[in-house]
Order: sequence, then structure tokens, then C-alpha cells
Amino acid sequence: MVSIIDGNAVAATIREDLKDKINILKDSGVTPGLATVLMSEDPASRTYVSMKQRDCEELGMNAVDIVIDPTSPPEELYSTLDTLNSNSDIHGYLVQMPIPSHIPVQELLFRIDPIKDVDGFHPENVGLLVSGNPRYKPCTPHGIQKLLESIDVETSGKDIVVVGRSNIVGKPLANLLLQKSPNGNATVTVCHSRTNNLPEKTREADILIAAVGIPEFIDGSMLSKNVVVIDVGVNRVEDDSDKGYRLVGDVEFDSASEKAKAITPVPGGVGPMTRAMLMYNTVQAASLQSNIPI
Ligand code: GUN
Repeated sequence: MVSIIDGNAVAATIREDLKDKINILKDSGVTPGLATVLMSEDPASRTYVSMKQRDCEELGMNAVDIVIDPTSPPEELYSTLDTLNSNSDIHGYLVQMPIPSHIPVQELLFRIDPIKDVDGFHPENVGLLVSGNPRYKPCTPHGIQKLLESIDVETSGKDIVVVGRSNIVGKPLANLLLQKSPNGNATVTVCHSRTNNLPEKTREADILIAAVGIPEFIDGSMLSKNVVVIDVGVNRVEDDSDKGYRLVGDVEFDSASEKAKAITPVPGGVGPMTRAMLMYNTVQAASLQSNIPI
């Protein structure tokens, strides 16, 4: 019988642990502060940002919600980032991705003060991660490591297949799982939408992580018995419901469940963990910037 991995429950324990650290900071006069920058009209992005704001409020952290017209020139975004860099009440901030195509992503990332880059996307933080000394672990990859740990799935020596090569999930996740560290030491194969003979590769996986952004791209026929499946995808698929859509992952849940030992649901699997690890990084950023050990 497959076990369904409850991301909401694991995220709640991480938030609970964070409360003690937040109290230590507050007792020394520092309230961790996060700013979100939204430059998009995408309804899913708006929802994600408002959930991040709510998480901060529930933990007693400061939250600033900045919305920029998506047609604005890059300079308007850059001057917002400059202001956040010099605001000592804001310990971490993020620009919700995706951003409009007229904004050069690399230039925007270089504008973020790396010590406030709680996404871990700045090239300096990417370099630290790849070279084995991560400052802020990117939220979704770190959340996946914590999910596996919560169900006592050992990564050391395992064959882990990551399907997806994004800078947000696939690439940093592969690097984390490779590291000589607890929750690492895996043999990692990174596949993507252009990989030849994909089912041959996915069937080799002890742990399969799908982060390719294509609805139900992986089905049960591509998996071996007793695999652990982590589904990062959140795709809106139109249907006849009142909302007009339903959410599906990158994995076809029913057929994959017949093969898997454990699987994350969509929603309620990886998503809540991403948000919990953002709170974790923001608390860490506040500690680093105030020199208060937690
Ligand atoms: N869009 C999807 N995931 C993320 C994330 O982790 N951070 C940011 N900034 N944007 C995203």
C-alpha cells in the first residue's frame, strides 16, 4: 500500500521549530523581515506571494508586499531592489518568478544583495552551493531533502533521478543531493523533456523527483516497484468545475501510486515545504545580519 507524504504536516513541524529561533531574535530586539516583489499578473504567482505573506504574519515576522506593474521598465524594479538592499528591517526578499520577458533575469539577480537573497538564486549563492558551502539552500530543493528525511528515506548511495533542469529546482536539487553531507551522497541523474529513452532512465530510480512543469509527464509505466516519488509540479488543467481548472502534478498520481512505496500529493506535498524553507532562510538571514546566533 502506497504511503502519501503529508507536506503540510512536515511544514508545520518546521514552522514550530522556527518559533523558538524567532523568539531568540525578538528577545534581542530583531524581528525577521521578508519582502516579496511581484511583477506579474499570473494568478498562481499572486496566490504564492500572498501565502508567503501570510506565513510571515502567522510566525510573527514582518512582511512587506511590493507589487510592480509588469509593463514597467527594468529600472523601476532595480530601484526597488536597491531600496530593499539598504533597508535594515528587511533581512530577506525575493522576486517571484517568472518575471516579464523584458527583464533580464541574470541582471536582476546580480542586483540582489547576496546576504538578503533568501531564494539562493544570486550567482554568489549558487557558487557557494555548488562548491559545497551553501549559505541559503534554495527553498524547494531544501524542502524536498527535509521531506525525505521526515519519512526516513536515506539518500546516501541511492539512485536518484531528477526530471527537470531549472535553476529554481532541478539544478540546485541535483547539487544538494550530490554533496558529501547528510541528506546527500546520492548518485544523481538529471533528465529533462529532451532526454532520449527517458523511461529507461526513470526506471532506474530509487527516488524519482519530477520538476519538469509538464502535466502528468511521468506515469506508472515509467517507474519501478517501490520507488519514492516526489512531485514538484503544480499545473492548472482546465475542467468543468466552478473554478474552471484543477491542479495536477508532473506525475500521473493514480498509476504512479500503484508502483510507488511513497508519493507526494499535489497540492499538499512539496508546495508547503517550499514556503516553510523560505521562512527558515529568512530567520537565518536575520541571524546572520544581526550577529545573533540562533
Ligand atoms: N517561482 C516558483 N518557485 C519560486 C521560488 O522558489 N522563488 C521565486 N522567487 N519564484 C518562484
